[in-house]
Amino acid sequence: GFFMKILENWQNLSVLSVNRESARSYYIPYADEASAKRMVKEDSPYYMLLNGTWDFKYYDRYIDVPEDMNISTWDTLPVPSNWQMYGYDIVHYTNSNYPFPLDPPHVPNDNPVGIYARTFSLPESWDEKSVYITFEGVNSCFYLYINGTEVGYSQGSHMPAEFDITKYLNDGTNHIAVKVLKYCDGSYLEDQDAFRLSGIFRDVYLLARDEKHIRDIFIKPTLDATYTNGSVDIEFDGISECEIEIISPDGTVTRSANVQNGKANFEFDCVMKWTAETPHLYTALLKCGSEVIPQQFGFIKVECGENGEFLINGVSVKLKGVNRHDTHPEFGHYCPLDFIENELKLMKQNNINCIRTSHYPNTSEFMRLCNEYGFYVVDEADLECHGIRFDPSAAIHSFDEWKEAFVERAERMVERDKNNPCVVMWSLGNESYYGPNHAAMSDWVRTRDKSRPVHYECARYNDKPDYYEHPDTVDICSYMYRSVADIEADMALPDKRPYFLCEYSHAMGLGPGDVRDYWEVINRYPRLIGGCIWEWADHAVKSVDENGNVRYLYGGDFGEFPHDGNFCVDGLVSPDRILSSGLYEVKDVYSYIKCSPVDLANGKITVSNAHDFTNADCYNLVWSVECDGTVVSSGTQELDIMPHSEADIALEYTLPETCKFGCYLTLSFVLKNDNEWAKIGYEMAYDQFELPVKRVKTTAIGQDILEVSEDKEFIRICGSKFAYTFNKFYGRFESIVAGGTEILDGAPELGIWRAPTDNDRGIRLEWKFDNIIFRGVGYDRAKTHIYNAYIESADSESVVICVKSNLARPAKKPFVKSLIKYTVHSCGAVDVNIVSDVEEAFPHLPRFGMEFPLCAGNEYVKYFGMGPGENYVDLKGGCRMGMYESTVTDEYVPYIRPQEHGNHYNTRWAFVYNKEGKGMMFETDSSFEFRVSHYTARDLENCAHAFELEPQNKTFVRIDYKVGGIGSASCGTKLLQKYELNDKHIEFNFRFKPVLK
Ligand code: GAL
Ligand code: MG
Repeated sequence: GFFMKILENWQNLSVLSVNRESARSYYIPYADEASAKRMVKEDSPYYMLLNGTWDFKYYDRYIDVPEDMNISTWDTLPVPSNWQMYGYDIVHYTNSNYPFPLDPPHVPNDNPVGIYARTFSLPESWDEKSVYITFEGVNSCFYLYINGTEVGYSQGSHMPAEFDITKYLNDGTNHIAVKVLKYCDGSYLEDQDAFRLSGIFRDVYLLARDEKHIRDIFIKPTLDATYTNGSVDIEFDGISECEIEIISPDGTVTRSANVQNGKANFEFDCVMKWTAETPHLYTALLKCGSEVIPQQFGFIKVECGENGEFLINGVSVKLKGVNRHDTHPEFGHYCPLDFIENELKLMKQNNINCIRTSHYPNTSEFMRLCNEYGFYVVDEADLECHGIRFDPSAAIHSFDEWKEAFVERAERMVERDKNNPCVVMWSLGNESYYGPNHAAMSDWVRTRDKSRPVHYECARYNDKPDYYEHPDTVDICSYMYRSVADIEADMALPDKRPYFLCEYSHAMGLGPGDVRDYWEVINRYPRLIGGCIWEWADHAVKSVDENGNVRYLYGGDFGEFPHDGNFCVDGLVSPDRILSSGLYEVKDVYSYIKCSPVDLANGKITVSNAHDFTNADCYNLVWSVECDGTVVSSGTQELDIMPHSEADIALEYTLPETCKFGCYLTLSFVLKNDNEWAKIGYEMAYDQFELPVKRVKTTAIGQDILEVSEDKEFIRICGSKFAYTFNKFYGRFESIVAGGTEILDGAPELGIWRAPTDNDRGIRLEWKFDNIIFRGVGYDRAKTHIYNAYIESADSESVVICVKSNLARPAKKPFVKSLIKYTVHSCGAVDVNIVSDVEEAFPHLPRFGMEFPLCAGNEYVKYFGMGPGENYVDLKGGCRMGMYESTVTDEYVPYIRPQEHGNHYNTRWAFVYNKEGKGMMFETDSSFEFRVSHYTARDLENCAHAFELEPQNKTFVRIDYKVGGIGSASCGTKLLQKYELNDKHIEFNFRFKPVLK
């Protein structure tokens, strides 16, 4: 009627593919057993990779593509890649908003197109063969042409598309062309929060097959009730006869059989079971004609326990997960396999045991790597329609004409991946609301594979934004960003299905700071089976400027509309896979070894092994006792602790009587042997305890005679080696000269502001001054007002200056009122005593403390506190108390969007100095938080990208009473109250002292 006629496949819901082979299990056929066992694709004479440089032609508009595809001037483009990464079209980042009007199934008239072409020739040995071509991933849809003839069409970006091209081939040189469209109706199902990139972005290869060959293989291993003996059914089609050999994990052939009717069964006593900790793989070799097809499988049984436990081979396992997207800083969505393998190694090194393939299946061979390294994979269908919101006119999850498109996405995933032991859940997709089309997906999956639970977080929405009960089309109750308190409250509900956090702890920018709190409750309830942090890696586009400096770009940097800024820069690792402080926190929380003190004075501790299947004898315990940063005892101990159990351990050490800064026992659990992903000696877990050794108080020693003078504005205090100038009008030190050298470049003042982190993006609206809606209180504009500053007492040994002040911004009453006492001792040390009252009605503070601007050259730091990485009250994982050395430059953490960073919690002593060893020392009998930087909060806050920052030629030293926690509220729940800096009465003491050397 009203709508224009739709003819093209790409806007026609009844055409999802043309001539595409139906989905099957992934494999590469080999010519002999030995190479089939090795599974190195390049060794197969039946495999030909077509990756490489292809001819390429880009058109902004579909209509401009010549009908006969006769193109005279070609560019070239690497395959796989995304054309936007090579200057065609623009990179576009959008989260949930579709980049086009919400009018399914219509996509923009100006639909960009990329034409790919190349030639290939086939070896003579392929003469008698059938030839198939597979595209592992093409975004968003494509038409395939061989030697000028249209072969077929496919859509669905993240799943393989296979075509039989035998009859289109010539002897000698063949020509292949692929017409890829940026958008199709399938784009409505691919609204994943990521860069929107087009083209052939995964491998393209040919397979030579016998004319009659095995097509699909389904391997169904099971374990008996005692999880000891195994049985495996193997079904295949395409042909009904073959020879099957089963290779056991040790590489020997354990079974073989000639199979007649497409079905075989093998029984095993005492199998080696597959778990993420013990990834024992069996391989089935299916031999038929000239082909040997390897299929890995494993004996793993996934069950949901009576109390909602997630049982792997009968053991209640916690999923310590991350969400992983395909994202590469230079190639876009193309992740080469060695790049992925490196990611998996990093995950293993960080105690991660679970990956959700958010929000689409990863490349086929990703599964093999997960089988081999050992990960529990939540395999997710290529489906997200976040942008349909709750608009009934776009409720495609309920429209019958979309059903096939939905179901097909589950089907193609399950068919491809069903034999991989690493898959522990099938996920129906992400953020697509919930309707009959999801129920149909679930039905299909359950009919085809009964061995794994079905997951779909949004099932609970049922078209209502706030509906929290999961229908019985899912086996798992899944949530995202639910608060710790709500999760705990949910434990009182009658539902007994496993409770999973498919997303939690949003790792954007500095953070996340709440992983530990989640796991505190997860560990207490069997039904809480764990979750996946959002997300593994930052998405950003890497470019290099004229001077060779790297720039990471994000949403909005490409002129696109609409966009979601840096919301894609939210990973535990940087785009180049550099670890963040957030990942250290995750590693610590996810670690399998935890210690608790029994009698620390006498070296008694309890060590518990949270592994599900591994004895702690895979680690050595390397321990040390450090007093004020110096090792006084140490040792190495072997362990023997069964999974899910604990042992008491006695360590031999004697403690000193007293210490200055602190005495600590550090316990490090390191790998006893090399393995696939880390070397011997690599630390997998650690713990640290402060030992009961008395700290002696620091005292100021009078070694000199003070001289004091005063005029209308200034107080001057001199010793023989120093001269301090205090401004009474502004209530602050303005000059500190020691040994003839000025140390200050600006005045130390009380402050409460920090450059907001991404996780502060909500509270920032309350913190910051806002002239339009008058919402924010204006902490960023806080300015000191001096009520009074005067000498309270003075003699030759000490001078006491009192300052009464407030911090306020125009138009509002003061936030904070303070009485600061500076006691200058004749040795030059200055005791700072701060007593402050914070106004009740204001939100919690970003931080509270004093910032000292020091002269250029004060570049070196030494401190006793939490280090060596940055740390905060709720984000200290990987850090430990000790004596550390660093530089101001190295303390900078290059967040792609600049923000607060570089803090050191629980610091007891710090020295910031120049290359002659002169500088300023800070200490306290309790502790402070300490941070040095070449940037002010405002410098960081005003810059959208790290590459725009200019370091100042001075050093800002922050000595803080406290710095507020970090949390993960950039998308997660709000900062836990216990981490808010909400103290209304503050007493804070520390000392600073110039060091002359
Ligand atoms: C979730 C979504 C993810 C991502 C995240 C925010 O709601 O499932 O894909 O958008 O929020 O980074
Ligand atoms: Mg989304």
